[in-house]
Amino acid sequence: MTSILMVCLGNICRSPLAHGILESKLPKDTFYVDSAGTANYHVGDLPDHRSISVASGNGIDISNQRGRQFKISDFDSFDYIYVMDQSNFENVIKLSRTTDDIAKVKLILEVDDSINTKRVPDPYYGNISDFEHVFSLLDAACAIISKALIEKET
Ligand code: 4NP
Repeated sequence: MTSILMVCLGNICRSPLAHGILESKLPKDTFYVDSAGTANYHVGDLPDHRSISVASGNGIDISNQRGRQFKISDFDSFDYIYVMDQSNFENVIKLSRTTDDIAKVKLILEVDDSINTKRVPDPYYGNISDFEHVFSLLDAACAIISKALIEKET
């Protein structure tokens, strides 16, 4: 089983979308996808209703997800840790113990050479079009990630 963790700040807007999108592109029998936030503000909460709505409009149900906080043992449980922005990156790296831990952590948009931003913008204080923009950035990145993971597996 290959396991992938998506990380943002609150685990209610961006990482639940990344989690649902990547999960929808990978076979469930050999890949496990999860998400977490570096903060504890929304532990146990549903994803933001705007993330649920944009995902649903694209055929993806994320309403079964609940917020949780990133924990040090996630470095042991996951093979790949994708963060949404530089601030998430620094928060996760602060908790790392080894160079192996650090090597697992990547900015998710670094996989996509076709776009010139490395930051998935936080849509929390934005509107539905900001969530749609986040969805499209993550959908493109997850298409690249899933293709590479499936190729690596075979
Ligand atoms: P996320 O967005 O990191 O994409 O889940 C946020 C959600 C909540 C907060 C910040 C960012 N907050 O401050 O509560």
